[in-house]
Amino acid sequence: MNKPNISQKIPAYKRFFRCIIIFLFNTVFFPFRVKKSISFLNHIYEFDPLRPLHDKVKEVEIEEILPGVYRQNINLFDLESKYGSMTLQEIYTVAAIARNFNPKAIFEFGTFIGVTTLQMALNTDDDTKIYTLNLLSTGEDTKYDIGKTDEEKNLPDLQPGSRFKDSKVAGKITQLYGDSAVFDFSQFENKIDFVLVDASHEYEYVKNDTEKTFGMLKQGGTIVWHDYPNSPGVFNYLNELAGELTIYHIKDTHLAFSLNFNKEP
Ligand SMILES: C[S@@+](CC[C@H](N)C(=O)[O-])C[C@H]1O[C@@H](n2cnc3c(N)ncnc32)[C@H](O)[C@@H]1O
Repeated sequence: MNKPNISQKIPAYKRFFRCIIIFLFNTVFFPFRVKKSISFLNHIYEFDPLRPLHDKVKEVEIEEILPGVYRQNINLFDLESKYGSMTLQEIYTVAAIARNFNPKAIFEFGTFIGVTTLQMALNTDDDTKIYTLNLLSTGEDTKYDIGKTDEEKNLPDLQPGSRFKDSKVAGKITQLYGDSAVFDFSQFENKIDFVLVDASHEYEYVKNDTEKTFGMLKQGGTIVWHDYPNSPGVFNYLNELAGELTIYHIKDTHLAFSLNFNKEP
């Protein structure tokens, strides 16, 4: 018996609509779903299959770049069970990098309660000056979106810097307030040796804060960024910058850093 010819069984107009639906699914709906899934996976570093293809920041053990950095005497104090936003290993690493270079002037973008500020103060010379900038309140208006929901903006404020205010190194630290996109950095131009970029992790802010860093840093200065692998804004910006600047990602941490800043383009 002859098989029925499909074109004889389904009317032409139905086949036409079926083709349109398949076409739309393949060109619009399916790529949209794939794109959404990839951007979701971007938030979960370990599971992003495309990440190694666009990661230009070299992952290193910090001892490869700074031999002996973990063999110094590091003082950590008043961590309790809450470290702020960094892990214990990250705080230790930032303190160790600070101790390694013993900067005379440090600038931190994003104080939060000041846990890391305190550790940097404890691991530098008595005459080192530390400037740390934070929004006065979470709900403050900012030039760009800082990536907080309205609910997060309405949470009660944590006092910026409360962790170091009564410490024995409080005199080394100056708390500054404001939005880093509009803050006047002119007094710090060419005066800073070490910068920690850890305020908003939105792309516009990481770019803004890093560009402001370039104006403040002295020749040979050091930059450390937090939340590199886990924040798409930090990841994307640093990967763009990695064409111009050597940037390393410290293995098993969310920290990235660049050394020997060169003032000349
Ligand atoms: C991730 S926390 C900083 C953590 C801190 N560096 C530490 O190691 O504990 C980010 C801080 O940046 C502040 N911040 C966010 N956007 C800012 C902006 N545009 N200008 C200044 N500070 C900002 C927030 O209020 C928050 O306290």
